[in-house]
Amino acid sequence: MDLADLLARRRMTRSFDGSAVDPAWLEERCADALWAPTAGNSAGVRMHVVSHEHVAAYFDHATDAAWRASAPRAPGLSRAGAVVLVTCQPERYLERYGADDKRASGLDQRDAWPLPYWHADAAMATMALLLLLEEARLAATIWGSFRYAEAILRWADVDDGELFASVLVGRGDGADTPSRSLSREVPSRRARVTRVRPAD
Ligand SMILES: Cc1cc2nc3c(=O)[nH]c(=O)nc-3n(C[C@H](O)[C@H](O)[C@H](O)COP(=O)(O)O)c2cc1C
Repeated sequence: MDLADLLARRRMTRSFDGSAVDPAWLEERCADALWAPTAGNSAGVRMHVVSHEHVAAYFDHATDAAWRASAPRAPGLSRAGAVVLVTCQPERYLERYGADDKRASGLDQRDAWPLPYWHADAAMATMALLLLLEEARLAATIWGSFRYAEAILRWADVDDGELFASVLVGRGDGADTPSRSLSREVPSRRARVTRVRPAD
């Protein structure tokens, strides 16, 4: 399939059918996704697969009982067939940008980064994973997990960085409620692209 078509076809899915996604297959797709660019070849992104039998426990730690009881999307999301935890390691970037060939950047301190490349790298790898899943006709949603990030990592026994996001993976069951975000008035994709015409 044409890449532009794949990009256009990919949409977040928030209601899955409960079938398992093969964790070994998913690990390989995660490794493929890590072909994504990485600033200074810092390689500071990690992906951790939560297999189907652990998805319920993941939701127990990634959400709270009130949300699970009341959120219309809770049942559909919790039928994901696997979850990928995407973590990133700021220290690897501080170390890399403190090396001889990059020290002049002044980026060996976390506060010095106007735009943290560990998040940029994590986003690129996550997008690559979403496209690979789409290519395989699987469905996914990227899920911000700020409130419970530490609890999720503790539960998963992952101690190699900060949680960037969770990617819920599965097969859509067609019962998705469209995101409220999609009804927002936003400029068209084409209108978000301009050709620079410098003033001088
Ligand atoms: C960094 C990031 C965090 C997101 N977090 C969530 C989330 O926590 N829950 C959710 O349902 N969707 C989340 N989304 C999905 C967006 O809502 C979605 O991409 C957007 O509404 C556009 O829809 P589409 O991806 O289906 O085209 C997130 C997307 C990104 C890029």
